[in-house]
Amino acid sequence: MMVEMSRIADEYGQDVWIWYPALDKDYGDPKQVEFALKEWAEVFAKLPRINAIFVPGGDPGHTQPRHLMALLEKQTASLRKYHPKAEMWMSPRGFTKAWMDEFYSILKTEPAWLAGLVFGPQVRDSLPVLRANTPKRYRNWFGQMLEHSPYCERDYKLPTELETHDETGDFLLKVKKQGQLHQLVYATHPFDVVGYDGYNFPYGISIHNFEPITGRVHQPPPVHQMFETKAFVVCSFCPRLYDYHPLAIPAPYNHSNIDSDEMLYYVDGDFMSRNDVAAGHISLHPAGIPHGPHPGAMERSIGKTKTDELAVMVDTFKPLQITEEALKIDDGKYYKSWLE
Ligand SMILES: [Fe+2]
Repeated sequence: MMVEMSRIADEYGQDVWIWYPALDKDYGDPKQVEFALKEWAEVFAKLPRINAIFVPGGDPGHTQPRHLMALLEKQTASLRKYHPKAEMWMSPRGFTKAWMDEFYSILKTEPAWLAGLVFGPQVRDSLPVLRANTPKRYRNWFGQMLEHSPYCERDYKLPTELETHDETGDFLLKVKKQGQLHQLVYATHPFDVVGYDGYNFPYGISIHNFEPITGRVHQPPPVHQMFETKAFVVCSFCPRLYDYHPLAIPAPYNHSNIDSDEMLYYVDGDFMSRNDVAAGHISLHPAGIPHGPHPGAMERSIGKTKTDELAVMVDTFKPLQITEEALKIDDGKYYKSWLE
């Protein structure tokens, strides 16, 4: 029945979560762990779709957190062999006070295998207490900005000076669908509304409100990320302190961005990793072509403590097509700029 339910849910595009109690007597015994891994793997292999496994801490099941969580770490690795994106969730249900303390101390290590916690009956602590002990990166199921996000809701600017459009007449609306333009005629101005339901709303955010994330050693490019869509990400390179390890080399490393085309727009400041690049310039590093700091830039960066650069990067997951207008501004020599 589980196989068939998973298949049907998949057919309808519905997520499949499995409530999966850990019922063996003693997961402190390596033999029982081995047995459970084999037994669960048989289920994982048979189901066409699994999005998440949720394991109750008790009722049924009664395993000390350190043994249960060690088991679940292994089960998560096994689960991902068959369902690479599936998540592992658990609840501290039925845990004693001592077990809750142990559970919280394990949570503090931010176990990478654990996607989230389920709260329900027989959980000793209230939801706020449970939440307070949950690592921050587990809290995103509320949809709120995480606290270590480089910007937050306060940074959003909303429209203030709204213009009224209540004219009537023939208003032509062109709707683009799959590359084709379709024409619709409205009897009132399309902005003649008092509001609308839905998830799309206008807002603005300034790059100057982006608080850079820095570290002792070079931070990976996602720390600069500001927006993401299915087709591209937008990163903001803002004035910031450089890496502060005594042996750190602040210039970025050479890389081949095999997953995306990188387009960078240099807005303001001094661009440490580039020679002959000034404000207003645009560079394009196509996917798979290795690139990195220009000759001398790496050496030049050593000992520098900060940058005033301001640049915006758009990484597209599909190759960018070059227009004739873009070719007109090509300097024809950038690709040779890595030659000493
Ligand atoms: Fe790059």
